[in-house]
Amino acid sequence: LDNGLGLRPAMGFNTWNAFRTNIDEKSIRATADLIVSMGLRDAGYVYLNLDDGWSERNRTADGRLAANKARFPSGIKALADYVHGKGLKFGIYGDAGSMTCAKYPGSLGYEEVDAQTFAEWGVDYLKYDNCYAKQEQWVIDRYAAMRDALNATGRPILYSLCDWGVADPWLWASEIGNSWRTTEDIEPRWESILKILDYNTGLARFARKGAWNDPDMLEVGNGQLTSGEQRAHFSLWALMKAPLLIGADLRTIHPDSLAILKAREVIAVNQDDLGVAGDLIWMQGANRVYAVPLAGGGRAVVFLNLHTTGGQYLTSNITVYWGQLGLPAGRSALVRDLFAEQDLGEHTGSFTAAVQAHDVVVVRIMPVGGVQGDTWRPWH
Ligand code: GLA
Repeated sequence: LDNGLGLRPAMGFNTWNAFRTNIDEKSIRATADLIVSMGLRDAGYVYLNLDDGWSERNRTADGRLAANKARFPSGIKALADYVHGKGLKFGIYGDAGSMTCAKYPGSLGYEEVDAQTFAEWGVDYLKYDNCYAKQEQWVIDRYAAMRDALNATGRPILYSLCDWGVADPWLWASEIGNSWRTTEDIEPRWESILKILDYNTGLARFARKGAWNDPDMLEVGNGQLTSGEQRAHFSLWALMKAPLLIGADLRTIHPDSLAILKAREVIAVNQDDLGVAGDLIWMQGANRVYAVPLAGGGRAVVFLNLHTTGGQYLTSNITVYWGQLGLPAGRSALVRDLFAEQDLGEHTGSFTAAVQAHDVVVVRIMPVGGVQGDTWRPWH
């Protein structure tokens, strides 16, 4: 959506994956404090977004949405002020049907008054879900109505669509929102991460600055994902230009997970100026290569090893050839490991990574002398 927002994928925190509807103003304030003190704000995570569960069960007598009195006694405006005071932006959640997925009031038919309420509260980001809509109420109309209502407030509010990819939003949502969910809900299990990864694959061509595919929020730090699995999840989401929304409880997050979320050279791939989404460029058996072009002629490459055979975890050597990346075979290029933040020397024609099972190697390949008239895209 050309509203000047989301020119890079959004980065921040969302309550859903860690807390579900069990949210209150005290824990949100604590989260805001931690986002700053843990260095996450400075790493780029600036949105603090409430998901479902912040509202009263019913609208007020004058038809407005209101914060749940027991859990948000100071109200949403005061909370947004607190979040803004920390140098963060504030996001909220609504629904394009008659109720949210957790059965709080939806905005269908109330788009204008709700957009106005959000703007008055100081909301900077709206995630807009798709529960409880009637079949005959066309999804594009319902999402466009809220876009127009947000626009009419005059407040810049990033608009994140959540129809779970059901109505092929990549075909229409770039004119309506700043991002659109492409899949069902993510879960903190390797099988779920891979399923969502595969759903999102092939969609890179539909993304552009201000309009991104959203394969759902991060599970880094949740469940029993190994460090390798968390690195894979995080770096692939970064490469696909997914919004990077932390979904872990920051009060208890493991230092290894925090380090993954703060991997600045991987974040830089997500936030790169070129604004092209990456995609799968090669797969064979358990080995895969994902790639994305970067500003200045570089490429970021994620080598993924899915190997698990009879409980055995096998390391793979995975190669990418310059030709697969639109680079002349004879060109030498500097290769750098983006998690380790280490140079891996100059290579010509190809690079081979040794990749542990359920893990990735993430590199940037920077051709010496750049690339003239670089138009390479991962879907060519
Ligand atoms: C849907 C969305 C989730 C979350 C819940 C809240 O399932 O896909 O991301 O917002 O609703 O109820």
